Amino acid sequence: MTDLMSMAGDQDPKDLAAPQPLYKLLREAGAAVDMGEGDDGPGLVIVGNDEDVRHVLGHPEVFSSGIDAVAIGQVRPLIPLQIDPPEHKNYRKLLDPIFAPRNVALIEDQTRALVRDIVEPLAAAGSCNFHDAVAEPLPTTVFLQLLGLPVSRADEFIALKNGIIRPPVNSNEERIAYTAEVGQKIYAVLQEAIDLRQAERGDDFISMFLDAEVDGHRLTNDDVLDIGYLFFLAGLDTVTASLDCMLAYLAEHQDQRQALVDDPGLIPHAIEEMLRWETPVPGVIRVTTADTEIGGCPIAEGRNVVVLLASANTDEQAWDDAESVDFHRAQNRHLTFGGGVHRCLGSHLARMELRVALEEWHRVVPQYRVADGVELLYTANLRSVENLELVW
Ligand code: HEM
Repeated sequence: MTDLMSMAGDQDPKDLAAPQPLYKLLREAGAAVDMGEGDDGPGLVIVGNDEDVRHVLGHPEVFSSGIDAVAIGQVRPLIPLQIDPPEHKNYRKLLDPIFAPRNVALIEDQTRALVRDIVEPLAAAGSCNFHDAVAEPLPTTVFLQLLGLPVSRADEFIALKNGIIRPPVNSNEERIAYTAEVGQKIYAVLQEAIDLRQAERGDDFISMFLDAEVDGHRLTNDDVLDIGYLFFLAGLDTVTASLDCMLAYLAEHQDQRQALVDDPGLIPHAIEEMLRWETPVPGVIRVTTADTEIGGCPIAEGRNVVVLLASANTDEQAWDDAESVDFHRAQNRHLTFGGGVHRCLGSHLARMELRVALEEWHRVVPQYRVADGVELLYTANLRSVENLELVW
């Protein structure tokens, strides 16, 4: 499939595996590409140049990320993602310190221990499905630990998360009904954790949320639920998808895999470059609050705008050698964690999880490749690789 319409519809597995040429096509088509009205909604406008992507992300008063942007089983806006400024700032003032590098560093040792528990038993096996064995359980286990819930419930959490992100449905109506039902279960699990911490504080994020205070304001019970709900979706699948993409890339580029084994100090740089190249969250959505325009293309109020971070990350106007994956790249101001006020709250946590995972994995399984006969299948929306069968 080579035309732009493919970006909004069914996609060829080959395009999903290597989408960069399609992004280039899109950028050449114009600053904003209008895909027309949809059958059951206002349709999409796609923005993919670095400059315009930054413009959209920098103007939340026109490009809102309010609750209308994405419906995923929630009953109130997700905090802070679906709260627009100025209210948004109050939540970030409160949450930013909790997710600051200093705090993330405090949980690195326990994260490493969890990762070791996951990867060490695999070494002798000689093969695994990396997605099932590592990429999916890892962030869930870390997340449960952060929330103060038992790690033994990881499978239940993974099923809930998948129920929202990959519901087994055939229509939009079914999706709304199914995700609403799963959403209620997520709220119930989170409420259980909150009740536990209301009774007795622990050394976990929910306890921190309950005690956090800015300008005399505390988070309400619903606020903590709405933050926790977002974490389910923002923090679990994203790290899973990133790990999938990175291991798939390294398994298919043996020189670069070996470079990391020879010099683990290169891993943080490799992570940034693979985040740029793969952009596991390829795009984010905004809804226009007024008539506006981008690069001369009019966009009416109420349109859904797909902000293609992945395209901006390979825009040759913004990057030297945009198409070369260079682990020694001097500057790497990628947009993989978004930009503007909604820039990812969990980026330090994500980077730590990814680094510890790559360090521990390569310590235990330094040489690996994709199993014979497997054609890696990348998913749309989030770039995970569920059939990542590796052998060593
Ligand atoms: C590599 C992994 C990750 C990637 C690629 C990623 C990507 C993103 C992106 C692109 C956004 C912007 C969304 C938008 O503008 O609409 C975002 C926001 C957010 N992310 Fe992440 N994320 C990752 C990991 C995490 C983790 C581990 C957490 C854990 C808590 C997290 C929490 C959030 C939150 C709370 C927001 C909303 C921030 C706001 O609206 O102010 N993310 N993320």
